[in-house]
Amino acid sequence: MSTSLLPNPVVYRGSDDKEFFKEVSAGLLQPQKTLPCKFLYDDCGSELFNQICDLDEYYPTRTETAILHDNIREIAQVIGPGCRLVEFGSGTSTKTRMLLQHLTDLASYTPIDISSGQLFDSCEKLGTDFPALEILPLAADYTDSLQLPESEMPAQKVVAFFPGSTIGNFEPHEARSFLHRIACLCGRGGGLLIGVDLIKDRRRLEAAYNDRKGVTAAFNLNVLTRANRELGSDFDLSSFRHQAIYDAALGRIEMRLVSLRPQVVRLANREFFFDEAEYITTEYSYKYSLSKFTNLAQSAGFEVLNVWVDRNRLFSVQYLGVRSDVHEVYGGLGEKGN
Ligand SMILES: C[S@@+](CC[C@H](N)C(=O)[O-])C[C@H]1O[C@@H](n2cnc3c(N)ncnc32)[C@H](O)[C@@H]1O
Repeated sequence: MSTSLLPNPVVYRGSDDKEFFKEVSAGLLQPQKTLPCKFLYDDCGSELFNQICDLDEYYPTRTETAILHDNIREIAQVIGPGCRLVEFGSGTSTKTRMLLQHLTDLASYTPIDISSGQLFDSCEKLGTDFPALEILPLAADYTDSLQLPESEMPAQKVVAFFPGSTIGNFEPHEARSFLHRIACLCGRGGGLLIGVDLIKDRRRLEAAYNDRKGVTAAFNLNVLTRANRELGSDFDLSSFRHQAIYDAALGRIEMRLVSLRPQVVRLANREFFFDEAEYITTEYSYKYSLSKFTNLAQSAGFEVLNVWVDRNRLFSVQYLGVRSDVHEVYGGLGEKGN
């Protein structure tokens, strides 16, 4: 068994400058200006997100961590021995450490993240702390079709881990299609351990995304700094402000960058006009009831086998088993819309 394959990490260049330029221009040309939330996570954005996780108002991280901590033995038992663990949007892999400590005969661990610097840093630390584990990082956009790195160790099944309520960043039809692709990747006998944020009162939700220290605002505005640095655009950061509002009808937090005045932003040879109060949508974070998420999971090819929630029912961790009628896509994450 190798200690780690970090000298040869798999890097897909899904989000290079050309891709970034194309997606930013396309997003700003839409009637409702939009920037895909994956671009929030460059090195600086990832660091800011880590700070968000420690904020008093940001209940998801500590609640999900506590649910995992309190139920880790049962979770490990439900997952069973000999799995290949594949994590989507692994970040610092902090929560994953609990799984790595408790899963028996783990075959290998593949963290997938678009933020490659943080991915490789955290894999190096994991390699030191879990020297016997085969770690096969994949720096990629998980919405692209992907082939998993080959593992030396045979696995009895593939289990995906998707914590952080990141599923909430997808609109429901996209979430269904993404979950279905995961079901096809995991195949027969496989499963998905997923963190799902629950619907709750507006005050708590809006506080979580509008923290007093302004870290979420800095995280949101960083995407404009990134565009200026990497694409040469001329966003004036002092002319945009962060806003996060809860739309109860749609069950989602909407994160925005609101223009404080009429202005023109230049990107390459294009000009984008903003009215005062016009905004760019930068992230959705959908919240689910347990029954609504069950319907979503079922329509995507899973059955909900276990649900763990905290005492205040703020957050859920769920284990979904792949239904037997799902067709496996061997070793990879198939095309969008499968
Ligand atoms: C909300 S954070 C969650 C981080 C961590 N899993 C946790 O639970 O704290 C989302 C993570 O997904 C990654 N990410 C976002 N969009 C992505 C994409 N399209 N492809 C791959 N990774 C993505 C980000 O870099 C970030 O690490």
